[in-house]
Amino acid sequence: MLQKRDYEIAKHIQLGSEDANQTIEFAKKQIALARHEMPGLMALRDEFKDRKPFLKAKITGCLHLTIETAILIETLIELGADVRWSSCNVYSTQDEAAAYLANKGIPVFAWKGMSEEEYWRCIGKTLEFPYGPNLLIDDGGDLTAYVLDKRPDLIPSIKGVSEETTTGIRALWKRFHEGKLPIAAIDVNDSVTKSKFDNRYGCLESLIDGIKQATHLMIGGKKAVVAGYGDVGKGCAEALRAYGARVVITEIDPIIAYQAVMNGFEVTTMDEAAMDADIFVTATGCKGIILPRHMDKMKDGALLCNIGHFDVEIDANYLFTNPEIVHEEIKPLVDKFTWKNGKSVLLLAKGRLVNLGCAKGHPSFVMSNSFCNQVLAQLELWESSKKYPPGIYRLPRILDEKVARLHLKPLGVKLTTLNDEQAEYLGVPVNGPYKREDYRY
Ligand SMILES: NC(=O)c1ccc[n+]([C@@H]2O[C@H](COP(=O)([O-])OP(=O)(O)OC[C@H]3O[C@@H](n4cnc5c(N)ncnc54)[C@H](O)[C@@H]3O)[C@@H](O)[C@H]2O)c1
Repeated sequence: MLQKRDYEIAKHIQLGSEDANQTIEFAKKQIALARHEMPGLMALRDEFKDRKPFLKAKITGCLHLTIETAILIETLIELGADVRWSSCNVYSTQDEAAAYLANKGIPVFAWKGMSEEEYWRCIGKTLEFPYGPNLLIDDGGDLTAYVLDKRPDLIPSIKGVSEETTTGIRALWKRFHEGKLPIAAIDVNDSVTKSKFDNRYGCLESLIDGIKQATHLMIGGKKAVVAGYGDVGKGCAEALRAYGARVVITEIDPIIAYQAVMNGFEVTTMDEAAMDADIFVTATGCKGIILPRHMDKMKDGALLCNIGHFDVEIDANYLFTNPEIVHEEIKPLVDKFTWKNGKSVLLLAKGRLVNLGCAKGHPSFVMSNSFCNQVLAQLELWESSKKYPPGIYRLPRILDEKVARLHLKPLGVKLTTLNDEQAEYLGVPVNGPYKREDYRY
């Protein structure tokens, strides 16, 4: 009987062809390097692989399909799960990673440069398990929204979702407050070893990677505006300053604005900053940050990019559709726009995530943190689902500390151990958890 083709990847990669084999070999080499840089995830794989805790679990994932995600998917499968996967952004797929997985018979539905319509169709394909999935892994909330709004028939068999990012968590809380969250959700983003590492140190390295892969821009000496000084904004501002940029922050939250100024950054509004900055980075997770009135007064050569989850921070539509502004593609995902007076600006990744559109996302090591949290969250939902009626939860702090521990050894860190007397004095167990739930790292 003819087997149904159960994957959809970049059209130019025809599995079985010589070209595809080379692409897959390239992916294998990158995966070998990345595995070495993902010590936590590999340790969890070793810890659970014999027990196969995910036997009979059907996991649908919607998370940037990169080399690191391929390693997460392999880990879930090695632990016993059946997995179907799509990417959570139209530009973030590494086509070689998708080809590698499809070639192994893993149902993946993603390619770089897919249309919006294809994006949603691919999410639909990932739900095609017999009787539907029983676990979801989401990044940004699109998969969750699709299931809850378009496929409510699948809800009864779903034990829960683990959500990767700030924007997805905001969407979950909105549903929860409206009384419209009928499943359990584990907030992976707010594990300390996720948001304080991936969002901050990940963006610290991958923002610059995105800008440099896209352009040959010198950052030193330039004036850069970072909109939003949360975890992502902090990483971006630090990175730009490290390159010698003079960094200005925009914020709405007085406490965060205060942190920014105490860290030596000028804080002002976009209206004030727009006319004399060279680099603009949006990192708010909010919408309407860079508007036509800002772009109209920017100086010649300004560079615009977004690192927040959705493409709602920069009004890219104004640039692409205004008949007074001439559009020229420099190369894929690098677009130049010229006003009638000759002034031009560059927009990266069409206003979508610059670090995943123009580069390959965060380094593997920091993704190991995030994906350890994902595996532990999925284990909680699968094995202890009675503990999680519909609602939003975080992983226990002791698991967060476990994820940190798994990454210390390869970095040569020697941790001090409390003695019994000290532990009693502090009122904490010798082996943790060491901080109260409300401790702000
Ligand atoms: N590109 C990536 O790899 C990556 C990684 C992690 C998170 N993210 C995404 O980045 C975004 C930010 O995440 P985060 O964890 O830093 O969130 P956060 O909530 O910690 O920070 C966002 C900051 O923006 C500020 N803000 C909100 N609206 C604003 C406005 N109109 N003007 C100025 N400041 C404003 C908020 O006060 C907050 O301090 C989210 O969309 C998140 O999903 C992207």
